[in-house]
Amino acid sequence: MTAVIFTCAGQRVDIVTAFRRAGATAIAADVDQLAPALYHADHRALVPRVDDFGYVSALRDLVALHDVRLVVPLTDLDHVVLAQSRDELAPAVVLVPDEETSARCADKYLAHLFFEERGIGSPPTWLPTELPGDLRFPVLVKARKGFGSRHIYRADNASELEFFLRYTRVESMVQCVCAGVEFSVDVFCDLDGRCVAAIPRTMIESKGGESIKGMTINDRELIEFGRAVAEALRIVGPGNVQCFREPDGELQVTDVNPRFGGGFPLPTAAGSRYPELALALANGEALEPRLGDFREGVVMTRFFSQVILEEAEGALEPVQAEAVPGEA
Ligand SMILES: Nc1ncnc2c1ncn2[C@@H]1O[C@H](COP(=O)(O)OP(=O)(O)O)[C@@H](O)[C@H]1O
Ligand SMILES: [Mg+2]
Repeated sequence: MTAVIFTCAGQRVDIVTAFRRAGATAIAADVDQLAPALYHADHRALVPRVDDFGYVSALRDLVALHDVRLVVPLTDLDHVVLAQSRDELAPAVVLVPDEETSARCADKYLAHLFFEERGIGSPPTWLPTELPGDLRFPVLVKARKGFGSRHIYRADNASELEFFLRYTRVESMVQCVCAGVEFSVDVFCDLDGRCVAAIPRTMIESKGGESIKGMTINDRELIEFGRAVAEALRIVGPGNVQCFREPDGELQVTDVNPRFGGGFPLPTAAGSRYPELALALANGEALEPRLGDFREGVVMTRFFSQVILEEAEGALEPVQAEAVPGEA
C-alpha cells in the first residue's frame, strides 16, 4: 500500500475515494474538522493554516508517521508552499509543478502573457491601465487571481466597463468574451512535465465555475491542445485546461489549474486511471503515454452529498452509515 497525503482535502471525497480504490492508504489533511473528505480517508489530520509557520513541518511529521510516498494538493492554496518544500517532504513525491508554473497558473494575466509568447490561443486580455482605444465589446472584468468564477463581470459597453473596474474589489484584468463553446480537458503529466493523458469533456452545465453536468468526448484537437498547454506550462501530475472553441475554430485557453479538476469523477469513470498513474510516479515508475485511451460519451450529472458526524470521546466521528439516508 502506498500512503498518500491529500492537503487542503476539503470536499474532495471523490479524489480520496478513488485513490483508496486504486490501492492507496489515504491521509486527508485540512485545517477544518468539518472538511468532509477527512471522514472518507484512512487517517485524518488537522493541520495549521497554509500560511502558518508550522504548516510544512506538520506535513513533514505526517510523512514520517505514515511513511508517505506522495503528497497531492486538492486546492490551489498551497501549491507554491509545497513546491518550495520538496526537499523537506522527501522521500515523498510532491505532485505539483515548480513555483514559476504554479504562480503563472494562479495569475490569469501572467498566464495570458505566457500563452501569447508561446503562440497558444488565449482571448485578447489587457491590464486596466493599458486598454486600447478601439476595445471591442463585450469584455469581462476578471480577477487576475480568481477562482470558483468569483469576481467576473461582463461589460457590454464603455460605461459598464468603467463601472465594473471601479466596483470590483480585487486586482483585475479586462478580457474579451469568448463567443464559442467551453470545454475542459483533464490532463496528467509525468515528473518531467511530459503529458501522458488528456481527456476532454463538455460543460453541459456549470455552477460557481464547477462543471455539474458534462460528457467525455474523443476530440483529437482538444486532446492535442490540452497536451500542448500542459507541456508548455510544464505541469507535473494532474492538470485541468479550460478553453473555448471560437466560431472561427480557434481554441483559446481561459484557465489552467495544476491539480485534479472539479469534474474529477467523470474522467475517472471514463477510465483515466489517474490515481494509478500518480501512485506509479510515487513508486518511481515511468509512465507510458496513453493519450486518447478513455471511453467517450460518458456522462456525469452531480448532486449534493454529506457526511454526518457525532461527538464521541471528545472528537467528531462519522455516525453509522445505516442512520444516513441514501447510504449503505
Ligand atoms: N473570456 C471568457 N469568455 C467567456 N466566458 C468566460 C471567459 N473567461 C471565463 N469565462 C467563464 O467564467 C468561468 C470562470 O472563469 P475562469 O477563467 O475559469 O476562472 P475561475 O474558474 O478561476 O474562476 C468559466 O468557466 C467561463 O464559463
Ligand atoms: Mg475555471
